[in-house]
Amino acid sequence: MNKKISIIFGTRPEAIKLCPVVLALKANPAFECKVCVTGQHREMLQQVLDVFGVVPDKDLALMRPNQTLGGLTSRAIAAIDEYLAEEMPDAVMVQGDTTTVLAGALASFYHHIPVAHVEAGLRTWNLESPWPEEANRVLTTRIARWHFCPTESNRANLLKEGVPEKGIYVTGNTVIDALLMAKEMVRKKPPVLEGLPSSLMATEERMVLITGHRRENFGEGFENICTAIRNLAERFPETHFVYPVHLNPNVREPVGRILGHHRGKNVHLIEPQSYLPFVALMNRAYLILTDSGGVQEEAPSLGKPVLVMRDTTERPEAVTAGTVKIIGTAQDSIEEETALLLNDQDEYKKMAAAVNPYGDGMAVERIVKIMEESL
Ligand code: UD1
Ligand code: UDP
Repeated sequence: MNKKISIIFGTRPEAIKLCPVVLALKANPAFECKVCVTGQHREMLQQVLDVFGVVPDKDLALMRPNQTLGGLTSRAIAAIDEYLAEEMPDAVMVQGDTTTVLAGALASFYHHIPVAHVEAGLRTWNLESPWPEEANRVLTTRIARWHFCPTESNRANLLKEGVPEKGIYVTGNTVIDALLMAKEMVRKKPPVLEGLPSSLMATEERMVLITGHRRENFGEGFENICTAIRNLAERFPETHFVYPVHLNPNVREPVGRILGHHRGKNVHLIEPQSYLPFVALMNRAYLILTDSGGVQEEAPSLGKPVLVMRDTTERPEAVTAGTVKIIGTAQDSIEEETALLLNDQDEYKKMAAAVNPYGDGMAVERIVKIMEESL
């Protein structure tokens, strides 16, 4: 008899990293694969579902404007609990470290449904950074039965915490599977980049791509980030600064206030891009300034230097490889490190080699095989 797996996700990055798994499970007759989205994100989630052609079997539609962690978590546990009571799958799969992941794991545990955790074993060992994601990961690990680790160092982290070795598998990160699919789609049909001058993709002028959304950067961190970008745009008038602004109001307020008046010639504030245009933008960028987890994993394989506007990373592999640098959120540091790469070819070349510590594009195949053998 085929096994029923419910895949539960809610935000943009979870959707990017799980849609390839959904497609593979749905194509495999050994499984009945159900997709439940919490709708922790609304527009940004839909953008990804559209790219991969995934239609959820259940949408819990949980997002509220400027939602709080406690509010979302309690709504998510209650709604997933009800969903699972009806569906009763043989296993639940979650990915990463968001509120949806913790709520999904906990609600499954309360139903005695085993949990598969994709992208397991990432740690900063600092519960305040990223906040609340480090806690979400640690707590999900305690509940999960299958731990699908992107790298050997993630596996070592779990062993250090006493996680039983037999449940840990190193598979690579499914983000590379998604990126390879997206690159192929972009190659076949170059996407439209809404909100940008059409000439931008064709010119030789340099482009710095920016993203940011981490909760621990709200307030002073975002003030610094925006002020640094404003100063850099004045200092490098021939360089374009392209910033798809996350929909979180705590991000949009400082970005609009500090950078809004400067948009125009070389400052481009645009809406969050669907995955294919964003991959095209990463490919076009000279360098990337970000606090994103997923972008830290994708950019190295595209040969793009990444300056990470955070104090910690749970993804040390690309730092060791030399393509990612942790620069914090001090205004001076963001300006100096970006200026260094824009001014100094040797420094730039040191960081621009394409490396890919996060997988070979076969993570999905490995995960599906393991589930087939062990569920
Ligand atoms: C969430 C995750 C974070 C992940 C990020 C990916 C948690 C606690 N945070 O952060 O780990 O890295 O997603 O982007 O799980 N909003 C919209 N439309 C959308 C998405 C968001 O309007 O499509 C606005 C809403 O006002 C919403 C707010 O953004 O309340 C915050 O969304 P939320 O998912 O709570 O936090 P993120 O900062 O997106
Ligand atoms: N991304 C996207 N459109 C954008 C910005 C990012 O599709 O405008 C993709 C990016 O390629 C990566 C993922 O979204 O795969 C990262 O999401 P985010 O930074 O929101 O979350 P994190 O990875 O930090 O959890």
